[in-house]
Amino acid sequence: MKNNSFFILNYGCQMNVLEAQKMEGHLLSLDYEKAHNEFEADLVIFNTCAVRHTAERKIFGKIGEVKKKGKPGGKIAVGGCVSQVEGEILFKKYKNIDIVFGSRNKNLISVFYHRALNGERVLDLTMGFDDFDLKYATNAKRDSKYSAFVEIMKGCNNYCTYCIVPYARGKELSYTPKNILNTIKTLIDQGYKEITLLGQNVNSFGTKFVDDVKRNYSFLDLLNDIEKIQGIFLLRFITSHPKDFNNDLIDIMADSNILAHSLHLPLQSGSNRILKLMNRKYTIEEYLNKIEYLKTRIPDIALTTDMIFGFPGETEKDFEDSIAILKKVRYNVSFLFQFSPRINTPAAKMEDLFVPEKEKLKRLQYAIEIQNEISLELSKKYIGTKKKVLFDGVDRTNKYARGRDSHNMIVIAGDKSIIGKIRDVKINDANSFTLFGDIL
Ligand code: SAM
Ligand code: SF4
Ligand code: F3S
Repeated sequence: MKNNSFFILNYGCQMNVLEAQKMEGHLLSLDYEKAHNEFEADLVIFNTCAVRHTAERKIFGKIGEVKKKGKPGGKIAVGGCVSQVEGEILFKKYKNIDIVFGSRNKNLISVFYHRALNGERVLDLTMGFDDFDLKYATNAKRDSKYSAFVEIMKGCNNYCTYCIVPYARGKELSYTPKNILNTIKTLIDQGYKEITLLGQNVNSFGTKFVDDVKRNYSFLDLLNDIEKIQGIFLLRFITSHPKDFNNDLIDIMADSNILAHSLHLPLQSGSNRILKLMNRKYTIEEYLNKIEYLKTRIPDIALTTDMIFGFPGETEKDFEDSIAILKKVRYNVSFLFQFSPRINTPAAKMEDLFVPEKEKLKRLQYAIEIQNEISLELSKKYIGTKKKVLFDGVDRTNKYARGRDSHNMIVIAGDKSIIGKIRDVKINDANSFTLFGDIL
């Protein structure tokens, strides 16, 4: 086959990372070749994210650059979440895009490409569920040979008022337990040791399955069944929704031999009034009760969160409440964002309540300062401790091995010879997000 080199530019969350890996595995299995970069490829695929305006803006700048400096005659395909919500506008407005495809038809990319080669401009946003993800879950071209993402569900039914994900990804559907367990078993046979389960709200796993069969099978059942698979060193999951995260799951985490002692529990705001406007369906008190039980059952738990600053109507007092929670819970890492109005979401229509841009930025910057101090203090506490780490790559200097421990901290130690190995490490230095150590 000619004109068969491709390059994927990926943006957004872990779901997109995995889906880009699946597309790559799929195209390689069809005898496509991976180009060295986006400027040498016959087909450049943008796998997009629409979660914030800044993410979107970056993508459009890059499309222009690829069109200008890319391979003459090369085709540009734009898929993923931006296309799914604004594909028709994109298609009409940007004539330099050859293919616009969606978030649930990535398996058809090579068909679309062939149509584009025949001179057609392709727009296909079909949301019909396909078996791309099941069939290719084990075939994905993952960056690491030891640590793998496994998608357990798609979509989201929560409709938080600021969030575009439910519109970009559709209704929530869980994969069948059999498929998930088989995928994990195959990955373990292939040498993977660390598995991260992905879903926008893993705690509601099992509400509706892709095959429409009713099963009495929850996320806790899935974790129990995964625990029985031999050969997993570490099991993680993201993301948990605080309204569904419960004490039974905490008990399973506490008793498990493989579940990581880290948890991402997005809070979004420290004010009950704002949480209500966000449609988050929990109160600060309920959230804190869960954290308290978690800390009693797993005293070394490492917590991370997501917070939004400058949500419409956020007052100085609401903002102070958010800062107070950051200080109270003391997260190892917080992903902090300023509110970004997204097309067609309810919060984007609360214009009368918008917080001025300057104020949003000021609040965000203050929160980042506070969080960085906390992150550094917590990181430093690991100095002198011993950690068991699966090393699955190299650090930025390309000299040392790099891995993540049970607390989801980046650990740098040893040299490349230990990649793929599990080693005990004595931590002797730390910055806010990274620990440095010696192999014992
Ligand atoms: N499902 C996950 C959850 O419930 O937290 C992840 C959702 S989203 C991919 C990741 C984070 O982006 C959210 O937790 C939220 O903090 C942030 N986010 C989503 N929409 C946003 C918006 N319109 N403006 C700013 N941040 C946003
Ligand atoms: Fe977005 Fe809320 Fe769904 Fe997370 S739970 S993806 S924040 S709508
Ligand atoms: Fe972005 Fe879509 Fe993920 S909007 S954060 S790539 S689900």
